[in-house]
Amino acid sequence: MLEDVLTSELAAQVRGAFDDDRDAQTFLLRLERYGEDLAESLQAVYGDWGGALQERLVEVLLHAFHARPADLRRLDEARLLRPDWLQRPEMVGYVAYADRFAGTLRGVGEHLDYLEGLGVKYLHLMPLLKPRAGENDGGYAVQDYRAVRPDLGTMDDLSALAQALRGRGISLVLDLVLNHVAREHEWAEKARAGDPKYRAYFHIFPDRRGPDAYEATLPEIFPDFAPGNFSWDEEARGWVWTTFNRYQWDLNWANPDVFLEFVDLILSLANRGVEVFRLDAVAFLWKRLGTDCQNQPEVHHLIRALRAAARIVAPAVAFKAEAIVAPSDLLHYLGRGVHHGKVSDMAYHNSLMVQLWSSLASRRTRLFEEALRAFPPKPTNTTWGLYVRCHDDIGWAVSDEDAARAGLSGAAHRHFLSDFYSGQFPGSFARGLVFQHNPATGDRRISGSAASLAGLEAALESGDAGRIEDAVGRLLLLHTVIFGFGGVPLLYMGDELALLNDSTFPEVPEHAPDNRWVHRPRMDWALAERARQEPFSPAGRVNAGLRHLVQVRRQLPHLHASIESQVLPSPDERTLLLRRDHPLGALVQVYNFSEETVMLPSYVLRDVLGDEAHDRLSGSVLRLDGPTVRLTGYRALWLTAGKSPA
Ligand code: GLC
Repeated sequence: MLEDVLTSELAAQVRGAFDDDRDAQTFLLRLERYGEDLAESLQAVYGDWGGALQERLVEVLLHAFHARPADLRRLDEARLLRPDWLQRPEMVGYVAYADRFAGTLRGVGEHLDYLEGLGVKYLHLMPLLKPRAGENDGGYAVQDYRAVRPDLGTMDDLSALAQALRGRGISLVLDLVLNHVAREHEWAEKARAGDPKYRAYFHIFPDRRGPDAYEATLPEIFPDFAPGNFSWDEEARGWVWTTFNRYQWDLNWANPDVFLEFVDLILSLANRGVEVFRLDAVAFLWKRLGTDCQNQPEVHHLIRALRAAARIVAPAVAFKAEAIVAPSDLLHYLGRGVHHGKVSDMAYHNSLMVQLWSSLASRRTRLFEEALRAFPPKPTNTTWGLYVRCHDDIGWAVSDEDAARAGLSGAAHRHFLSDFYSGQFPGSFARGLVFQHNPATGDRRISGSAASLAGLEAALESGDAGRIEDAVGRLLLLHTVIFGFGGVPLLYMGDELALLNDSTFPEVPEHAPDNRWVHRPRMDWALAERARQEPFSPAGRVNAGLRHLVQVRRQLPHLHASIESQVLPSPDERTLLLRRDHPLGALVQVYNFSEETVMLPSYVLRDVLGDEAHDRLSGSVLRLDGPTVRLTGYRALWLTAGKSPA
């Protein structure tokens, strides 16, 4: 009953707000269905659901619902019939900066054949809403959420691109920066001009007392170029909360006006055709004295409420959480306890990414096994965003507990990984750069492209065919794991061609201080062409290998994300074994993380698969009745029982 979630007065008003009976039915049913999430979560956060908040929210929802274009309403219906659309094995993502990929949004529209050819179903275009001028943290300092960056095009170009993508079955994914806005955003301008309504959108302190009290337990995100979490602003006459850079003002989500602004923004972008929102830096939304101000319970309530609002107007829309936090904290973004499966539809699996690089450096998989084993299972209606590289640095998120269970010291291993990937460790194949060295904690995060970190840059310089072969093997191995793990594999632009570090990044003055730009190259279209003509070049091999993975993955129902990958303890410390138990049978994956040939005892595979297995990657049949299975360096197998496909 609507009256269970709305006051009877408002319920009557809502019923009267439609000319069309079918529209009324749709809206009312969804409001009944998701109203409970809204009521519970907003009550928990704001201690108020009965009054003005309810009325204002319903007004925003009704307006957006009436404005939703017909083709998107059709998509809503289609998604309601296929609620697992993001979990299916054919989902493959691609992540790119529109300008670096193709100049403008229209330019992106001219490369849809390329994306479709690669098998892409999900396109994340990096921040493209209008950022502040000058330094803007790669677009994560948004000045206007209702305008596109002028050099990329217009809002109408965005709608047109979304529609063209949709026509090819590709979902458009955009960043939703909700922790902070640019200092030049209208809200911040008004706050500085002294408007009390907008001052209350931010955390502004008259003196150091508040900031000092919070700083006692706050970590630093950019200790190098933006130390501390507060910035004095002369015009605002106060210390402004700026977790990231001084020009990124944190929003005060304890203010329900901020929540309503974002509901409206999300729905208006959804009505432009955005299908997935990447919730940027979502862990930081709620501040609580005496904590690190991350992962506070209010964050999960807020996202659950935003998602419920989106489901009412635009059920085609999904949320992806960017929460680069410890596994036990991460699961809350997919929903635990009362929120089970109700928060985000997808979250980045940062830990898997870290373990990939960790095992590649150490040629050992014990720690990988321990980290995966300690990972709580996710709700079955959610999925992972799986990646080898992204636009950010790699922080060595290896927990001391996991390390101890693998017989390692966490601190020493993290130190080793920083040494290894910055190329300082003797014999290292990697060419990375240290990002944000924090002398207080000893942390050294790493920048660098996947290919340069995997050894291709150094190998090409040496001209040694064996080393080049190993580097290609490493890149394909890491991608095979993310294609096989269960989740949406996200290809980061340029990695499909094994692009190396872009050492020219300091030539752009705004990029020079931030070496993450070393792995945010421009697309090399000439190389894309050559990769096709020269299939045996490194780019050609990586490219063909990835295309092959897309094809194989599509045919394997075992890779549906509702199923968890489980660790199968490996008798050889260089290999990682994973099993996925699907009603169609088991899929066992074998990954050799070393350049050495491994003779893996067969029993471990035979116990699950029987005497004979079919390797879905190579198409060949593998006998498991002998004592060992031979795995050459960096070899991967995806095995199902029997000779032929199950
Ligand atoms: C996210 C982005 C990162 C950005 C930060 C602040 O972590 O991935 O690039 O610096 O948020 O918006």
